[in-house]
Amino acid sequence: MCGITGYVGGEDSGEIVHEGLKNLEYRGYDSAGVALGGETIQVHKREGEVSELEFPETSGHTVGIGHTRWSTHGEPTQENAHPHTDCRDEIAVVHNGIIENYEELKEELQAAHFFESETDTEVVPHLLEDELDDDVSLRAAVHRVVQRLEGSFALAVTAAGHDGIVVAREDSPLVIGYGENEHFVASDVTAFAEHTREVSFLENGDIALITNDSVTIHNDGSVVERPVETVEWDATAAEKGGYEHYMLKEIHEQPQALRQTLSGRIDDLSGDVTLDIDLPEPYLQSLEEIQIVACGTSYHAGLYVRDLLEQYADIRVSVELASEYDFRGGRDPWRTLVVAITQSGETADTLSALREANRSGARTLALTNTVGSTVTRDADATLYIRAGPEIGVAATKTFVSQVATATLFTVYLARVRGAMSVSQASEILESLNALPGAVQQVLDNNDHIEAVANEYADSRSFFYIGRASGYSVALESALKLKEISYDHAEGFAAGELKHGPLALVDEDTPVIALLTDHAASSETVNSVKEVKSRGAPVIGVSSDIETTSLVDEQFDVADIGPMEPVVANVALQLFAYHVANEKGRSIDKPRNLAKSVTVE
Ligand code: F6R
Repeated sequence: MCGITGYVGGEDSGEIVHEGLKNLEYRGYDSAGVALGGETIQVHKREGEVSELEFPETSGHTVGIGHTRWSTHGEPTQENAHPHTDCRDEIAVVHNGIIENYEELKEELQAAHFFESETDTEVVPHLLEDELDDDVSLRAAVHRVVQRLEGSFALAVTAAGHDGIVVAREDSPLVIGYGENEHFVASDVTAFAEHTREVSFLENGDIALITNDSVTIHNDGSVVERPVETVEWDATAAEKGGYEHYMLKEIHEQPQALRQTLSGRIDDLSGDVTLDIDLPEPYLQSLEEIQIVACGTSYHAGLYVRDLLEQYADIRVSVELASEYDFRGGRDPWRTLVVAITQSGETADTLSALREANRSGARTLALTNTVGSTVTRDADATLYIRAGPEIGVAATKTFVSQVATATLFTVYLARVRGAMSVSQASEILESLNALPGAVQQVLDNNDHIEAVANEYADSRSFFYIGRASGYSVALESALKLKEISYDHAEGFAAGELKHGPLALVDEDTPVIALLTDHAASSETVNSVKEVKSRGAPVIGVSSDIETTSLVDEQFDVADIGPMEPVVANVALQLFAYHVANEKGRSIDKPRNLAKSVTVE
C-alpha cells in the first residue's frame, strides 16, 4: 500500500533513497518524502509523485529513509506525507500499515506534543521522543513504542545523533539488503535490487538496528538470526525496456512469463506434473473440499480454475472473495484445503482469510509471485507462479501465470487422487504448452486490437459477456478496462443478461463477447444476438467458430483447448490498454489504486 525504503552506507543517502522510492512507486504514489539522517535530520516531502520530490542532489548524509504514500488516514497533502517527525524535528519515521489505536495515543500525547498531520503514523515519533528522553538507545525506544501500537506496521526510524536506522515489522513486509559496508531496507526487494540481491526477510515482532557495517535483529528481547538468501532478480526486468508503460511491457512479457511458470514442471510422456509442494499425498487423496480465497484479479484466476478442479480432480471447490471469507461450520477442516491466490503475497484481506483458515484447522496453500512474502510464511505450503516482477498496478502477466500454475496444480492433484487419466492430463498439458505461442500470436495482432480500441474509446460503458471459464475472463477483462480507463465496464455471465442487465444495452454500449470454444461459445452466440438486436456493437473474441457475420469486430485466438479463454484475456488486456492510452490515462498508476493492498 505504501512503500518504505532506507539506506545506511558510504554513499550519498539522498540519491539512493530517491532511486529506491522510484522503484517502489507502484505501492503508492499520492505523496512522497525522505528524511536524511546523521547528526541532524533533514526532511523533504510533498504531495504528488516521487519524481516531483525535490531536494539537494548531494546531501552529504549517509543515512536516509523514504516513503511513497497511498493515503488511508488523511488526504494526500504535504503535512500528511511521510516522514513524520517529533516536536523537535530530531526523529523521523516512515510507516506502512495502520496503527489502529492511534486516536487514543494521540489524545494522550496531545497535551505535551504538537501534531501537524491527520495521520495515524505521527503518534510514533512523539512516543519515541518521550522514550528517548529517558536516554535509552534508539532500538530500545522503538522496542518500547511498538509494545503500545495495535495494528499492522512496518516502521523505519532515524534520529539525530543515533547510529543508522531502526526498523520494526508487524504484519507489513520488510526486507534487508546486504551490500559491502552498506545496508538497505525496504518493503520490497525491488527498491534496491540493482545494488544487492543478498537479502533477509524480517519476521513479525522483529526490530533491527541497521548500520553501515552491521545488522542486529531482536525479537521479544533476544537477538535472532534471519537467513540471508540470494534472490534471483533481473534488475532490468523491473525497468520499462523501451515500452511506453510497464503495463504494455508486462503484457508483452507474457509468453516468457508463461514459459517460466511451466518450466520443468510438465512431463509430456507420463502426463505428470512435478510441483514442489509440501503437502503429503495421503492428505491430498483424502481431501473433500478446496476453498480458494483471493481478491480482484487473483479471485478471477480462482474462478477460472474452479471448473477444471471440480471436473478433473473430483473435488468440491468454492471460490471466495477474501474480504467476505468465513470458515463456516459444517465443513471438515481436516479434509479442506484453503488455497490463497495472491500475486503480492501481502494483500491484507487474503492474509486475514488465510489466518482464519489456519485457526479453523484447515491446511493452507499459497499461490504467489513474491518470494519471501508474508503469505509464504503464513501458509503451510507455497507454490510460486514465477511470473517475474510486475510493476504496473493492473495485473496482467501475473493473472495468466496464476491461471497456468493453478491448472498445473489441478493436474497434479487429479493425478495424485487417481481421478485423471493420462489422456485427460495430456489434453490439458498440451493446452498449457501451447499457451506461450498462442499468446504471442495475439500480441502480433496488436495493431488491429489498437485500431478497434481507438474506434470505441469514446464509449462510456462496456459490457463483457462469457460462460464457464469465459465468464471469469469477462469479469477480469472488465476489471482491467475500468481500473485503467475509468470507464464503466462490467462482466456478466452471458446467460444472465436477459435477466436484467439487458435493459441497459443500447447502441452506445459496446459488448465484448468471449466466443472461444471452451467458453461455451455456441450458447453465448444467443446472447450476442440479443444485444445486436438492441443495436449494441459487438466485439467477439473467438477461436474457430464462425462469428464474423454476427459481430462487428473480431479478435482471433488460436484453438488450443481449455486454455483458450486465457489467450482471449490477453487480447482484452491490449484492448483495455489502448482504450486507456487513447484517453491519456495514467496507466501504470491509476487513480486511487495501489499495487499491494495491505489494509483490510
Ligand atoms: C487488478 C489488481 C487487483 C489485485 C488485488 C489482489 O488489476 O491487480 O485486483 O489482483 O488487489 O492482489 P494480490 O494478487 O496481490 O493479492
